[in-house]
Amino acid sequence: MWPDTRLSELLGIEHPIIAAPMAGASTPALAAAASNAGGLGSLGCALMDEETVRGTLGETLRLTKRPVNANFFVHKPPERDSAKDERARARLRPYYEELDLGEVPAVAPSHFPFDRKMLAAVLETGPQVVSFHFGLPDDDIMAALKAAGRTVLSSATTVREAEILQRRGADAIIAQGYEAGGHRGFFASSEVQAQVGTMALVPQIVDAVSVPVIAAGGIADGRGIAAAFALGASGVQIGTAFLSTDEAAIAPAYRSALRGAGEEDTRLTRSFSGRPARGLVNRYMEEMAAHENDLPDFPLMNPLTGPLRKAGAERGSPDFMSLWSGQAVRLNREMPAGDLFRSLIAQAQDAMKR
Ligand SMILES: Cc1cc2nc3c(=O)[nH]c(=O)nc-3n(C[C@H](O)[C@H](O)[C@H](O)COP(=O)(O)O)c2cc1C
Repeated sequence: MWPDTRLSELLGIEHPIIAAPMAGASTPALAAAASNAGGLGSLGCALMDEETVRGTLGETLRLTKRPVNANFFVHKPPERDSAKDERARARLRPYYEELDLGEVPAVAPSHFPFDRKMLAAVLETGPQVVSFHFGLPDDDIMAALKAAGRTVLSSATTVREAEILQRRGADAIIAQGYEAGGHRGFFASSEVQAQVGTMALVPQIVDAVSVPVIAAGGIADGRGIAAAFALGASGVQIGTAFLSTDEAAIAPAYRSALRGAGEEDTRLTRSFSGRPARGLVNRYMEEMAAHENDLPDFPLMNPLTGPLRKAGAERGSPDFMSLWSGQAVRLNREMPAGDLFRSLIAQAQDAMKR
């Protein structure tokens, strides 16, 4: 049925399609729907503490008996610069005043990078696949994951990053092209202007590594899936298309922004988290664009923008929300995740026959 079965065999799934982990938007119901349809469902756990990870993974594994992927960030500790922190707080103050949110909070780390405690939560709860963004965890954690029989994936945005991931033990590599929604997964190449599109990136990574390659970025229907296989990928990871499914946990204003969006409506921005991520342009992104290189490192911006994003969502306004989205957003269709998954498989089969 599929021209390349290496990824399906590695992951123990029928269809080599991964519903991408999307921190803040993935839900147990979304992940389980993808896994139950024969693909790999994912949970974006980067914003969760261990107890939430245990609860969310436990719930997902009650909804499906098939393989599931838990995803974490492995970012380096940020460099601290208190003058920069204060400049960022001063820039956000007018927005806090406008939304009546009180004082801008102090700059502080927010996300929970993958550590020993998180490892214990993952090993006890039992997802078969663990994926990482921004590199891989330390060698001892990698060894513990491997000893526990887990399959490990991570994203590369360049050939060099793919080679590093393979050398450090990744079982398969997600080639994340420039089109992709959400955070760029780079960790060894930080030149944003040089980030590579999916069409150019996938075959170059396929040539450079021996592990299966998963194409990601701008794939939203069967044509994109067939194209990824033609480029030598063994599977695909799709994010943005799943944001419009019933099971995605996104605010109504985000959902309606996706509904009207086209290929020219996304940009990369550092203004929400301190790391470049692709989302639909809104007022906050536009007004902050001139200052984005003078903001605290990832993830220090998150606690500063969190209250703005929350207030925007509560007021039904997209102005201050992070509306992560890839460049193929126009192809999104609103339907239950299982139906989207089955339609992607059917379309891909059809496109490959042609
Ligand atoms: C809303 C959203 C959130 C995302 N969050 C994560 C995440 O937590 N971890 C991760 O590895 N990738 C994340 N990504 C990136 C996806 O893994 C993937 O690279 C991307 O969605 C592929 O491009 P596409 O959106 O065009 O399908 C996110 C993407 C989106 C759209």
